[in-house]
Amino acid sequence: MRSHWKKQVIVLSSPGRVSSKMQQLILPVLLASFWTICTGSGDWCYQSQFTCDHQCNAPDKWNHAQRDCGGNHQSPINIVTRKTLKDERLTPFEFNNYQQIFRDTIKNNGHSVKVGVPHLSTISGGGLPSTYKAVQFHMHWGNNGGPGSEHTIDGEQYPMELHIVHMKNEYTDLTTALSDPEGVAVLGFFYETSNSANRKYDPITNTLRSIKTTNSNTSLPSISLAQLIPAEQNLTSFYRYNGSLTTPGCNEAVIWTVFENTIPLSVDQLRVFSELQFHDGKPMVGNFRPVQPLNGRQVFRSGGAVILVSSTLLLAAIATALGLSQPN
Ligand SMILES: *[C@@H]1O[C@H](CO)[C@@H](O)[C@H](O)[C@H]1NC(C)=O
Ligand SMILES: *[C@@H]1O[C@H](CO)[C@@H](O)[C@H](O)[C@H]1NC(C)=O
Ligand SMILES: [Zn+2]
Repeated sequence: MRSHWKKQVIVLSSPGRVSSKMQQLILPVLLASFWTICTGSGDWCYQSQFTCDHQCNAPDKWNHAQRDCGGNHQSPINIVTRKTLKDERLTPFEFNNYQQIFRDTIKNNGHSVKVGVPHLSTISGGGLPSTYKAVQFHMHWGNNGGPGSEHTIDGEQYPMELHIVHMKNEYTDLTTALSDPEGVAVLGFFYETSNSANRKYDPITNTLRSIKTTNSNTSLPSISLAQLIPAEQNLTSFYRYNGSLTTPGCNEAVIWTVFENTIPLSVDQLRVFSELQFHDGKPMVGNFRPVQPLNGRQVFRSGGAVILVSSTLLLAAIATALGLSQPN
């Protein structure tokens, strides 16, 4: 280590070596231009969008422009089911007006596809501190049905994840809600590949073709939130933790709920999402933030949530129960 350092100093300070003088001048200039070209100062982007000739700030640089993105309570996370803590207060949710039919705009916002929701549908119960009303929903996905969810369960990444964003009933806009540490509640649902198409998603998949380019929008045929998620009786198993928005500004104001039951979509339906385009015309794929450190946070699970115990652990538990394990 030390001798290596010494050698470098000798080379660089040797007066007779023009080439090393040149190096001293050129190297920083090269490094500086590489920095500018390859890190950029433009809009934020996902890792899938980052190339040397596209200037954008990938997830590891989001905290340069938005301090909260470097915080200690960030989302998404990997949920290690064996480390979750069962919490009896996580009772089933009460969904109000989730059956309500509405028409709204579906928009390609350059990062995802987003649908505004009239503030009529609300959730309460589920261990939430108050009633929250739905504001919008959007998805995160992979490439043609490949891994694309934001949260992962025991390291498994699902092909897509739905986020239904709610804010406390008393607020009228999301910006205000985000300044309250419990102002926002997001319901997260995983999608899983099924053999047959999920016809309840036709209104969405059919309109994606007309909003391929960034900032385009169109009106969505009538839908309800209830038709997009599993039946209510199948929503009693979920995980809960405190986190953040998964896009800049990454505000740490979100009570997260991640449901265990998945939503089925066929591969063809998942593929339609990959036909959407980022603002540069490239396929909108991989629009998920990588999982963030837990930093000591506890993840809770509702009574119904199943822990996947590995067979080794199970055998160890049985051995312990039978008094077969070696004391130490
Ligand atoms: C939808 O697009 C039109 C232009 O085609 C624009 O005037 C309108 O503001 C857009 N709506 C939303 C919600 O972005
Ligand atoms: C709900 O769960 C039952 C089994 O527990 C299953 O048969 C049914 O298909 C599920 N329904 C939905 C909409 O997920
Ligand atoms: Zn999201």
